[in-house]
Amino acid sequence: MAFDIEMIKSVYSKMAERVDKAREIVGKPLTLSEKILYSHLWDGEPSTAFVRGKDYVDFAPDRIACQDATAQMALLQFMQAGKAKVAVPTTVHCDHLIQAKSGATADLKIANSTSAEVFDFLESVSNKYGIGFWKPGAGIIHQVVLENYAFPGGMMIGTDSHTVNAGGLGMVAIGVGGADAVDVMAGMAWELKFPKLIGVKLTGNISGWTSAKDVILKVAGILTVKGGTGAIIEYFGEGAKNLSCTGKGTICNMGAEVGATTSTFGYDDSMERYLRATDRNDVADAANAVRGYLTADDEVYANPEQYFDEIIEINLDELRPHLNGPFTPDLATPVGELGKKARENDWPLQVDWGLIGSCTNSSYEDLSRAASIAKQAVDKKIKPKSDFGINPGSEQIRYTAERDGLLETFENLGATVFTNACGPCIGQWDRSDLKGEEKNTIVHSFNRNFSKRADGNPNTHAFVGSPEMVAAIAISGRLDFDPMHDTLINEDGEEVKLDEPMGIELPPQGFAVEDAGYLEPDEDGSGVEVKVSPTSERLQLLDPFVPITPEQLQGVKLLIKAFGKCTTDHISMAGPWLRFRGHLDNIANNTLIGAVNAFNKKTNFVKNQLTGEYGGVPDTQRAYKAAGIKSIVVGDHNYGEGSSREHAAMQPRHLGVAAVLVKSFARIHETNLKKQGMLGLTFANESDYDLIQEDDTFNFVDIADFAPGKPLTIEVVHADGSKNTIMANHTYNDSQIGWFKEGSALNVIKRENAA
Ligand code: F3S
Repeated sequence: MAFDIEMIKSVYSKMAERVDKAREIVGKPLTLSEKILYSHLWDGEPSTAFVRGKDYVDFAPDRIACQDATAQMALLQFMQAGKAKVAVPTTVHCDHLIQAKSGATADLKIANSTSAEVFDFLESVSNKYGIGFWKPGAGIIHQVVLENYAFPGGMMIGTDSHTVNAGGLGMVAIGVGGADAVDVMAGMAWELKFPKLIGVKLTGNISGWTSAKDVILKVAGILTVKGGTGAIIEYFGEGAKNLSCTGKGTICNMGAEVGATTSTFGYDDSMERYLRATDRNDVADAANAVRGYLTADDEVYANPEQYFDEIIEINLDELRPHLNGPFTPDLATPVGELGKKARENDWPLQVDWGLIGSCTNSSYEDLSRAASIAKQAVDKKIKPKSDFGINPGSEQIRYTAERDGLLETFENLGATVFTNACGPCIGQWDRSDLKGEEKNTIVHSFNRNFSKRADGNPNTHAFVGSPEMVAAIAISGRLDFDPMHDTLINEDGEEVKLDEPMGIELPPQGFAVEDAGYLEPDEDGSGVEVKVSPTSERLQLLDPFVPITPEQLQGVKLLIKAFGKCTTDHISMAGPWLRFRGHLDNIANNTLIGAVNAFNKKTNFVKNQLTGEYGGVPDTQRAYKAAGIKSIVVGDHNYGEGSSREHAAMQPRHLGVAAVLVKSFARIHETNLKKQGMLGLTFANESDYDLIQEDDTFNFVDIADFAPGKPLTIEVVHADGSKNTIMANHTYNDSQIGWFKEGSALNVIKRENAA
């Protein structure tokens, strides 16, 4: 069911030839990242040396993984491509929509009922189009991918930022928006700016209380949340080889927290052990046969400064355990120093919850190390001062951990074992111990700790640490507890000290599972009916977008002139709206409600040119739509920055916005607008932004001659009848102009499929 060994062998069979060719073209030894990138070019054999951080390159990923929140719109779009099956092996994982409250059994039952229509849709659409489906409770996407699909030297994309976790098994795995995933599912190339490379050399060995998590907590402190942007982080050195495969996964996982495109490690014995332990001897054998291609050339690691754009060196012998936070994962503090910092900043010292798990830290090794601390608390009669919650990463982990007594150890401490799902990591946590927005502290082994992320409370101070450190801190109930030096008083009034954690890399009796929660799709899904209720408020089948004609681009009304920052969050807000991610018309009711109107500096308050009255952006736009009038959005610099979510382009398109004219775009959003068949334009003369008035009407006078490299002329008609003619630049190539003319990229794919 799980992996496709033939696909992996085919990747490896091409790898040698392509890597050798790339080395010749680049003219120097190659890093692992370059080997993977150059062996996954859409055009096959490398013929050009790409400039890092500059060239946009088409790639051919080997796999796709989607989680339940992002998969909805991605698969609704894929249905429009007219394909019988996905072009690339794909899986869907139901993990984000399950709330943690009273424990796995009860919580899963509730989720299966409250999100039944979403799960039914995802299951049926997966079955129809040849997509592997992991049911609610089967596990967290990235843990399941690591256990089943990741393979050294592979390239995958996933509709979740922590897809990067698969770097633990030597992949280049990258989080993308749904629109990118749809392209690849539909058989198109995937474009990425050729990344820069950051090398992290790990010397020494981790020991005692220090864990793999502390490596990335330290790196986050060095690079900060933006330091990895546009780069792949490649780890190497003796210290890297000595980390477990799942520990490497933890490090790569949190590469997302420094903004890195992805992170990866060269193939080594720890990966081979993990592959064999997870029942993939054939993958390990195939990888061993091309071992030299699955790590950088020797010269690279010998003189890394010549081959990476930046080098960081960490001596693991000296690395201390860290807790990062609150409110940002790059605020790194060694454990012994946190008390002072907390007192200075007035962070609550009392710890109310310790949460262990998430896609970052829920391996067998993680649970066993944390359990070794939990066990000591029971044996040494220390009553834990905080509540404990555990989210196993997969049913395979949970089943094995239960069999081996690890879960019982936590339960003896009063822990609640939640569903094998994201739970508190994504705010799916019905936390009962707090009323209102009280100031409080929690510690967790997750990756992100932004305000409100775990429980929706802006006053929850969340600190990120390793599972074993979370266990120790939660047992003590104190943020300033340092288990390496401090003692605790047990129930007999004795002073006791916690010993160093003991972990087991892989289960000695092997992994086991009764029902992993996987559904293999039908070989022929043509007869499968995709389940979407016409009355659903969470899901809606899409209609193909109708092309915008040159006639419709005369008399275009200004919807909003956005002032200052306008991110994808301003265009399509998250929070409570996530519920409608699979229903375009309903989620469109949040379109641009966060954007600031340049004329009155208010949000969601724009002039309806038809009535002269002011109202919300979506309502105003719906009035234009009802009148058959197209509209335009004007914006400032870096319009559409933030996430790659395609909703920010689909919603305006759905409501009848024809064009977005800005000083500059965030590139992914610009591409998303193109894919949805809209005009994404930039002012040829930035100061023309100031000419735009509230009552303006726009005529695209030469749209019939829309061509690559040729600016468009727009006549701006003001309320008093006066006019300005402005020029708008664009970056559409021939095929993108085709998307515009046919209504969307998917319409083009569908036509080509039918031909
Ligand atoms: Fe889920 Fe949190 Fe990972 S939301 S995918 S456990 S980052």
